[in-house]
Amino acid sequence: MTTDAEAGRESSDRDTSSPGDSVGVDATDRSEPDGAYEAHLERSRRKWDRWSDWYGMSERDFEPMREDAIDRLEIEPGDRVLDVGCGPGVNLALLREAVGPTGGVVAVDYSPEMVAKARERVDEHGWENVEVVRADATRVAFDEPFDAAIASLSLSVMPDVRRAVENVHRLLVPGAPLVVFDVRPFPSGPARVLNPLVWRFLRWCANWNPDDDVLEALRATFPECEVFETYTAGTTYTALCRAAEPPS
Ligand SMILES: C[S@@+](CC[C@H](N)C(=O)[O-])C[C@H]1O[C@@H](n2cnc3c(N)ncnc32)[C@H](O)[C@@H]1O
Repeated sequence: MTTDAEAGRESSDRDTSSPGDSVGVDATDRSEPDGAYEAHLERSRRKWDRWSDWYGMSERDFEPMREDAIDRLEIEPGDRVLDVGCGPGVNLALLREAVGPTGGVVAVDYSPEMVAKARERVDEHGWENVEVVRADATRVAFDEPFDAAIASLSLSVMPDVRRAVENVHRLLVPGAPLVVFDVRPFPSGPARVLNPLVWRFLRWCANWNPDDDVLEALRATFPECEVFETYTAGTTYTALCRAAEPPS
């Protein structure tokens, strides 16, 4: 039997039976959510539950960016990797390949339907060391830290990007990399005049969060953070950040 973790809402209700249980989920609620936060999260759940049947259609579009992003993590066999806002598990094959049979992948998503799709993928491939957890990535906690993390097209749709980024930082071993592949409005040039339309579109299709800036949150949290690639006039980018090392 599988129980979905309503991490963040009810800290005691957690996923207990996915493959890779040794990962040890401790969905402790560290934050004090307000009404706006909960409303955004609930809109997200509805939106991404609805998209889950169609998401596969766009999976291929971003494949080269995903491959490039995951390459930058320089994952070693045996590593433990976190996929933040995993959707239907589009990164899982590449991550599983990188960690090999001795490593582990934990994927987190808030949408139950996305989680179901990701788990189907895991089951189809028989990946015993890949676990999909239903949780709010902003508040989920784990017993063991991660050697690397990826957040692709996910942070910018979360209700409080800064707190989500801070939580991912907390979940990493010191010095571990986080790669973020995400979208934003036109950052410069005359096309900026279109940004109000871009905001509306992203908000409609993805419940995108117009109030927070992912890169700003990353730079405020991670001591190292560099955008190493941009696409489509800068509206899509990949950034590599590195978690703080303990003071020597
Ligand atoms: C655009 S999809 C990205 C999916 C996948 N990472 C990819 O690269 O295509 C955004 C995903 O973020 C998830 N998400 C949104 N808010 C979340 C939250 N607070 N915690 C965990 N997942 C969240 C959504 O459910 C959705 O599956």
